[in-house]
Amino acid sequence: MNKIKRRSVDPVFSMCVQPSFIIGTNNEDGSPNFAPITWVSATQEEDEGYLLVISMFGTKKTKTNVLRTGIFSANLVSADMLPLMDYFGSRHARDGRKDGIPYSVSRGEKLDVPVLDQSRWVYECEVAHTLETGNSATFFCRIRGIQMDERLHCGDIFDVDLTVLDPVVYSGKYHSLGKVLGNIGDFLK
Ligand SMILES: Cc1cc2nc3c(=O)[nH]c(=O)nc-3n(C[C@H](O)[C@H](O)[C@H](O)COP(=O)(O)O)c2cc1C
Repeated sequence: MNKIKRRSVDPVFSMCVQPSFIIGTNNEDGSPNFAPITWVSATQEEDEGYLLVISMFGTKKTKTNVLRTGIFSANLVSADMLPLMDYFGSRHARDGRKDGIPYSVSRGEKLDVPVLDQSRWVYECEVAHTLETGNSATFFCRIRGIQMDERLHCGDIFDVDLTVLDPVVYSGKYHSLGKVLGNIGDFLK
């Protein structure tokens, strides 16, 4: 077995292999807002099934909407959704509606949250616990509903063919499974 030759560097990198989700929330006036969030993971609470763990920093609208309503959708980003990811991530809801790019929205099936029609896997989430650290809030959320692409045929909970979902993996750059797709901004029109 090869021993990888590594070098020590200062702990300034925050490299973490991150899944890409676009979070859908309700504004005060009921209009939808979407923003990419990649600090997403999962854990479990006794007898409560999975909890989605998601972290948001600063004062972004997505965060204040989740704090206010306690519900949101997490729309998995497939490679064909990168223009949406870049667009939603480069705009702030406080600067106006994010309607400069075409996309269509439905409502959740379990919760009253906005859902992106283009997403192949959608979680409908309700916050169970919130942990504040500095200017970040980490939400531990019950998954109230999952909508999955009809082309997926999952035998059990561990049997999900990611190639059907074609998820974007984020590390500071965007990747597909096995392929570098580019950097933030490459997909802005
Ligand atoms: C690739 C990417 C990943 C991001 N991940 C996060 C994240 O994990 N947590 C976070 O708080 N913001 C994250 N952001 C930043 C928000 O998406 C961005 O601030 C957005 O404009 C917020 O929109 P809003 O003000 O409408 O909520 C990410 C942005 C991009 C482009």
